[in-house]
Amino acid sequence: MSIKEAAHAVMKKAVQVAPDKWMPGATPDPLIRQKHGLIGTPVSRLDGPQKVSGTARFAAEFPLERMVYAALNYSTIAKGRIRELHTAEAAAAPGVVLVMTHLNAPRMTRVPLFGSNAKAAGGDDLPIMQDERIHWNGEPIAVVLAESQEQADYAKSLIRVAYEAEPSVTTFEVAKASSEQGVFQGEPLLLEIGDAEAALAAAPHKVDVVYRTPRHNHNPIELHGATVAWDGDELIVHDASQCVTHTAWSLAQVFDIEEEQVHVTSPYVGGGFGSKTLWQYQVLAAAASRLAGRPVRIVLSREGVYRIVGGRTLTEQRVAIGAQADGRFDALIQTGVVGMGRHNNMPEPFMLPAKSAYKSGTFRLQVEAARMDMVGNTFMRAPGEAVGTFALESALDELAVNLGMDPIELRIRNEPDKDPTSGVPFSSRHIVEAYVAGAERFGWNQRNPKPGARREGEWLVGLGCATATYPYYRMPGGVARITLTNRGRATVSIAAHEMGMGTATTQTMVTADRLGLALQCVTVEYGDSHLPGVVLAGGSQQTASIGAAVTAAHDALITELLKLAGKESVLSGLDSEDVIGRDGYLCDIHKPDRRESYVSLMARIGREQITVEGTAPPPLEFTHWSMHSHGAMFCEARVSGVTGETRVTRFLGSFDCGRILNPKTAASQFRGGIVMGLGLALMEETQFDERKGRIMNPSLAEYHVPVQMDVPEIDLIWTDIPDPHAPMGAHGVGEIGITGVGAAVANAVYNATGTRVRDLPITLDKML
Ligand code: MOS
Repeated sequence: MSIKEAAHAVMKKAVQVAPDKWMPGATPDPLIRQKHGLIGTPVSRLDGPQKVSGTARFAAEFPLERMVYAALNYSTIAKGRIRELHTAEAAAAPGVVLVMTHLNAPRMTRVPLFGSNAKAAGGDDLPIMQDERIHWNGEPIAVVLAESQEQADYAKSLIRVAYEAEPSVTTFEVAKASSEQGVFQGEPLLLEIGDAEAALAAAPHKVDVVYRTPRHNHNPIELHGATVAWDGDELIVHDASQCVTHTAWSLAQVFDIEEEQVHVTSPYVGGGFGSKTLWQYQVLAAAASRLAGRPVRIVLSREGVYRIVGGRTLTEQRVAIGAQADGRFDALIQTGVVGMGRHNNMPEPFMLPAKSAYKSGTFRLQVEAARMDMVGNTFMRAPGEAVGTFALESALDELAVNLGMDPIELRIRNEPDKDPTSGVPFSSRHIVEAYVAGAERFGWNQRNPKPGARREGEWLVGLGCATATYPYYRMPGGVARITLTNRGRATVSIAAHEMGMGTATTQTMVTADRLGLALQCVTVEYGDSHLPGVVLAGGSQQTASIGAAVTAAHDALITELLKLAGKESVLSGLDSEDVIGRDGYLCDIHKPDRRESYVSLMARIGREQITVEGTAPPPLEFTHWSMHSHGAMFCEARVSGVTGETRVTRFLGSFDCGRILNPKTAASQFRGGIVMGLGLALMEETQFDERKGRIMNPSLAEYHVPVQMDVPEIDLIWTDIPDPHAPMGAHGVGEIGITGVGAAVANAVYNATGTRVRDLPITLDKML
């Protein structure tokens, strides 16, 4: 059977009549059914001019009266206590305003750990500078405030400290001996269906191998920083944040004040990727600011980001697949251990893709966590899926080699018609279409299945592919406010975030289309904890979360307008489901000529503006349906037969992520994810000294990320098939791009050379 024949059989089954609503019982969403207006058109970032002209004000660019600058000292042992701390010389240095250590820091409550409360934002829940204890190598032990950054940096170099080290666990092998069951979002990372080991043993074809992925550190271009000030008992934090409301609430717990007394703003963020949450630096800056009675600006050095902001942890994953000669899976096993900090709860959930990717007779999926004395590891773009798909999709490729089958055909033969582990239907899954279109465009049929068969000069050339997958999420807490003026202008206000993804632009488009207003007539206010809603820019769910809240607010606005419009209105008798906004008018959805403009309506009722709020319905859609973003990744890699160096020379991402709202910003998300995936595949690796628990390469000189010369032109296509069960028909696009890339590269390297690399990154020493 060819790929196309195999695909055709699956696609015929998958096409079903879809109801045009995204929730059971919900109003049909015109933005899903109709393609008109701004949605689907490439709109440039509305904040682009501010960013390129330097007028966009980032967290560490707020100038405040009498502001001082902070510098941090970091511990150099993994566990133990501070025996001696000499700060007098630093305190006497020029410009120094305060040296804060555990000896004079104010009493503070622990930061609530992320997940412990709907608004908890902490990367760990350790006490911060409250005693002489040390919990990881790199923990802050002193804050110096001075009139200039240079003075603070110099003074901190004068601090002398002596430690009393205690036995610590900084070796993965040792930690593994007492690993615990991983728990993610309240659920144990453990899933067993049938007897997978027995099915594996009985299967005529199998792979059973171990893959390893290293630690990764966060490297957003904008260093983590904040400008903080106290106004009496009110705390103002200009932060770089992907969770302003969470941060405000959490800081209120730390300083024992009301949530409303903390005001967090974050209008611009230079990249987050999961790292721009609440870490010790904001707390320390606020505490020091209170002691000094001065506003404080804190910006971590690049080294500081490595020391105190957690990254992606290391994983060791066994993948075993048992299959019949025709490729059908009898057993799918993905189990293993990840390192985890002692005071956080983020067991990198690498098994998640395997829950929904393939049909199999039996399953055994499990993630265990090995506690270590290290900085709390955290979310990093597609936590779980980025490294989980490396192992799973490499194993698929290995099995395809064993079976002598095309790896795309093997995937299509195991394409499930409903979620294979939960049993619920997929809301929208067109991954086979993505493979077929991608294979065609990439020239997959040119691939020689025999490894090492294609040579161009010193270069061995190979093609590889892998599935990309990331779940659809929508968290509760979406609340939006809409204000409509008598000039026909609207403002949406929601405590959401723009970290560079294009969220503000895309939501402006969505709101403009909903209201039937021009883009220039709509403003989206975000990045401020005083705005409504509890919205996390994480889990690729912000667009859905905002979209659902805006839908609710829009519905409330139209209901209110129709009520106020009264009997004289041409729209009298209609309710909110019967009207649609077009060209500045409210129109009868069935008879668009029956209409009244916002301006005329507002004038007639004598109102300058109307403000309403709407709350998103509870996110029940993903209990009814199995919902995911999907993609098929294609890579051409060249490996030098002389040096073993790998160059990726072509890459195609073929995506199925529902309706693409703004092709321009969505493409940037896909592309950026793929670039980050190339880093994961080929170079990113935190060097962790297992003797001392110290990160040895805390700088971009020694921690390598892809630069211009490492990245080929990345080709992107997508199905653009709306998911009838998701707000606006859209799935998340922020994280899917990094998934599958590691395996696509490794599989291409195997096809080029016959060498199978099972431990990332694929550096040249592994190729020789
Ligand atoms: Mo993302 S790792 O959910 O910011």
